[in-house]
Amino acid sequence: MQFFLDTANLSEIRWAARGGLIDGITTNPTLLAKVAGDLDPRDVLKEICSVVEGPVSAEVVALSTEEMYAEGKELAKVADNVVVKIPMIEDGLPAVRRLAADGIRVNVTLCFGAIQCLLAAKAGATYVSPFLGRLDDIGHDGMDVIRETRVIFDNYGIETQILAASIRHPRHVVDAAMLGADVSTMPAEVLRKLLLHPLTDRGLDQFLNDWSKLQTRAKVGA
Ligand code: G3P
Repeated sequence: MQFFLDTANLSEIRWAARGGLIDGITTNPTLLAKVAGDLDPRDVLKEICSVVEGPVSAEVVALSTEEMYAEGKELAKVADNVVVKIPMIEDGLPAVRRLAADGIRVNVTLCFGAIQCLLAAKAGATYVSPFLGRLDDIGHDGMDVIRETRVIFDNYGIETQILAASIRHPRHVVDAAMLGADVSTMPAEVLRKLLLHPLTDRGLDQFLNDWSKLQTRAKVGA
């Protein structure tokens, strides 16, 4: 499974990239608005694309097919690793088709059902992004979408990648991986939690403690 960081925050991105923890980035208008301030969001995007070698998703904010296509073409010019994010709406699918025909990778976002994922894949999406946490928030099981989409894509040999999004905790990552999602995108806070286990810390303390006792005994014996 690939790990993407779901952020536009450059210090978080640099931290994760330095540690070799991530394969790509996803952003959305909310995340870019949070960090852009007075900066041009395109400049922020360009900087992100220079820090990370893997795919960087950037979302259009237009709503008509023509405008989404045009905006997608512009976003794709920012860097070779830009993946254009298009929302899963009726007018979005023809834009996905046209961008894909131009050789531009597309991530269809805001997917909440397996059939939406299938429609996006049929339109030529490279990635489909089911939102797990937001489904869980309204009392559904977001993981059902991953499970069903995996079966459908495998039934038909569809190569579109399932990108588990709206991840809120490490268990989401484990479950999505068990169900065969290709990618999990998560905030830095969740990525940090993936590294941690209290027994790891306790075990390391004990090893180091025992080692220093041995050193002390060796010194006393000398
Ligand atoms: O980038 C899309 C998605 O991961 C958003 O997550 O936490 O805002 O539902 P969240």
